Amino acid sequence: MQEKSKITRRQFLKTAGIATGAVILACGGLGTAATISPNIEFVENHSEGKPNMKKVLIAYSSKAGSTSEIAAAIGDVLNKSGMDVTVERINNVKDISAYQAVVIGSLIRMGSWASEAKKFVENNKATLSKVPTAYFTACDTMKKDTPENRATVTGYVEPIHQILKPVESGMFAGKMDTSKLNFIDRKIIEMMSKGENPNADNRDWNAIKAWAEKLVPLLA
Ligand SMILES: Cc1cc2nc3c(=O)[nH]c(=O)nc-3n(C[C@H](O)[C@H](O)[C@H](O)COP(=O)(O)O)c2cc1C
Repeated sequence: MQEKSKITRRQFLKTAGIATGAVILACGGLGTAATISPNIEFVENHSEGKPNMKKVLIAYSSKAGSTSEIAAAIGDVLNKSGMDVTVERINNVKDISAYQAVVIGSLIRMGSWASEAKKFVENNKATLSKVPTAYFTACDTMKKDTPENRATVTGYVEPIHQILKPVESGMFAGKMDTSKLNFIDRKIIEMMSKGENPNADNRDWNAIKAWAEKLVPLLA
């Protein structure tokens, strides 16, 4: 099963690599297109006057916006459980010393967590190792929750686990919305979809909320 998942992952990346090369050639080089980031506002709540509330940070990396919404949904569950939750885009987080638990989430691109999310774990490893730290991953592979696909996604996240072992690591199906992608990324996805519509929102909100419920005692 392990070998099968490796082949699956390799095949995915190989196909993506070929598609990337083809698109870059078609575009005459890498160009200047940047991935469009959505501007999602979160309501933050602070524990002034409620010193007993556990301060939890959810730091996420999202390119097309769907992982942001997963982070917000997890934050909502933790907040309702009585925690003081801050949901923040990972690049905006400067200091994590005030938090008593941290959840870090990333999308997958070409078989890897976003580099900014990986760097965040590397840079904050010392502080994160002193508090309960959980990870979550959003990707296309999880649209079918099979043991093989879980093994593939476990492989995607393994480099992050090697930096710091989390108390829990969730993996969720994400959303593909090519209207939110830059030209090159859109072409890669269109080529990989071989004529089929790649756009789909596969997020399973019940699974995401159930995972967040499971986190509550682990972060406490
Ligand atoms: C260029 C590109 C490459 C991707 N590569 C992978 C991949 O290697 N494996 C996978 O399972 N999903 C892959 N995905 C799917 C994304 O991880 C998924 O759509 C995710 O929900 C996007 O999150 P976001 O909306 O927060 O950016 C890729 C998506 C794009 C646009």
